[in-house]
Amino acid sequence: MNRVPAPLGLLAELTHRCPLACPYCSNPLALDDRTAELDTAAWARVFREAAAMGVLQVHLSGGEPASRRDLQEITAAASQAGLYTNLITSAIGLDAGRLQRLQAAGLDHVQLSIQDIDPELADRIAGYDGAHVRKQAFAASVVGLGLPLTVNAVIHRANIAHLSELVDYAASLGAGRVEIAHAQYYGWALRNRDALMPTREQIDRAMQQMEAIQARHAGRLLIDLVIPDYYASRPKPCVGGWGMRSLNVTPSGLVLPCHAAQTIPNLEFWSVRDHALADIWSNSPAFEAFRGTAWMKEPCRSCEFRERDFGGCRCQALAITGDAAATDPSCDLSPHHARLLALAEQAAAVQETQYAYRGRSTVIPFSVG
Ligand code: SF4
Ligand code: FES
Repeated sequence: MNRVPAPLGLLAELTHRCPLACPYCSNPLALDDRTAELDTAAWARVFREAAAMGVLQVHLSGGEPASRRDLQEITAAASQAGLYTNLITSAIGLDAGRLQRLQAAGLDHVQLSIQDIDPELADRIAGYDGAHVRKQAFAASVVGLGLPLTVNAVIHRANIAHLSELVDYAASLGAGRVEIAHAQYYGWALRNRDALMPTREQIDRAMQQMEAIQARHAGRLLIDLVIPDYYASRPKPCVGGWGMRSLNVTPSGLVLPCHAAQTIPNLEFWSVRDHALADIWSNSPAFEAFRGTAWMKEPCRSCEFRERDFGGCRCQALAITGDAAATDPSCDLSPHHARLLALAEQAAAVQETQYAYRGRSTVIPFSVG
């Protein structure tokens, strides 16, 4: 590997604790316990080291970052390190007063997740009664304080028919940007794949609406849409390329090249408790494993797009082919591409109507709208 590029973004997973129970959660099956979480001082050190490496933005995430009592101190530490601070939240646990204190501590931007436009369906997806109404009130507080707001929604079988209304709803909340991402089937989400997978027809209908949606909000709302991998023909450069642009720090301090990297067996992750962040970024085995192009097999190895998409997603390659170094099967040049499509179609055809929620033995049925 030649010179290692400097990372731009840091995802700080402050905690795995979360009041919601979204069935598409991409956090690992085994969550870090509260007692294993990095303390405030450790996060402050991580932020200083990240800034010194060239990181510009920190995403304060979880779980639900508001589950941390020291969120204000953590935000202040990130801001004092010179990082642009983005809070990724479900809004649960954040009232207007706490938000104001976060802003005073240096919070720059808020990213709010929503589940649907229909309050009942939204709460059912989140596994939390009253979540939708609280999110609406929270968005008003964000906008009222003059903080920029991004709304993000994960799209799946139960809400894909509401895509257009979801974007309108985000605009009505005062968002300047909306991110529509299709569920990614890693971590807990893989358990719910049969209940989440949209049909090809649903995807096609949603895609056909996008032009009209973009036109309706042109100049006022930035709309980012991620096409679902299972129905794509070329992969996205997952995380901007493994070890090229960003890094994740888990609640207990492990540093990962992507949020699902722990699904790949035999990768050795280093911890900020034992190593400087720059050392981990440049030298740790997990970052070295798939950085650049030298690790690639055919067809990626000799493909003209190898430095554009870096072979797609390592976690998806592993999940579908059993080999993390294989071409992402969402690429139509992959020998596993047809199997990926077949898997998607099978999952969509099952029409499972119950979600498995983390930590709960009950499942909650939903209707497809
Ligand atoms: Fe990208 Fe590999 Fe597909 Fe080429 S073969 S387009 S490098 S995933
Ligand atoms: Fe791990 Fe894509 S989620 S590389």
